[in-house]
Amino acid sequence: MRTNNTFINRFFSIVILLLSFVFTGCKDNPKKPIVVTKIDTTKIINDYDTAYVGIPLSDTIMQHNKETFVIYGCAYCHGLYLTPVGEAADLRKSTIVGADVNGNLIGKILRNGIPLTAKSSPMPQYSDLKDEEIKAISAYIHYARDIANKTLSDSMVLKK
Ligand code: HEC
Repeated sequence: MRTNNTFINRFFSIVILLLSFVFTGCKDNPKKPIVVTKIDTTKIINDYDTAYVGIPLSDTIMQHNKETFVIYGCAYCHGLYLTPVGEAADLRKSTIVGADVNGNLIGKILRNGIPLTAKSSPMPQYSDLKDEEIKAISAYIHYARDIANKTLSDSMVLKK
């Protein structure tokens, strides 16, 4: 009797196991993990908005600086490569930028803005920028200015 019971128990557990395989195979298991085997780099480049952020720079720190410049809207008025749009000051020629070291003068302008000017879209105030953000933005302005004024020849040539 004892051996018989064990046999029946084993037989049914095997049948149930097989049935469960059959039934779970019939519909998609929603808990099935999605395994990413390959990162499609062409897709990443295609998704990168070159019209907005320009060509990606191989210097990743400078790329970050440029993105900070774009994110805060500077490029919208001053131009991504410092060719000003509308009334904005030409940062390629600005004496303030020329005298700036590590954001010491640019930072002052950003924190205060340039209020009460006759310009219809005046220089906004960025009172809550972090010091690192001012340094990043200033570094990009110096870099793009040096390239625009051809004092820096770089393989990372900025295209217009
Ligand atoms: C809404 C347009 C606009 C935006 C956005 C803007 N600016 Fe300006 N900026 C101006 C204008 C206009 C002037 C010139 C103001 C004047 O001369 O009265 C100016 C002046 C400046 C100057 C002073 C240049 C000089 O020599 O007098 C600096 C530096 C500057 N902007 C940097 C920036 C940076 C960096 C950002 C982004 C954080 C930025 N601006 C965002 C419009 C803008």
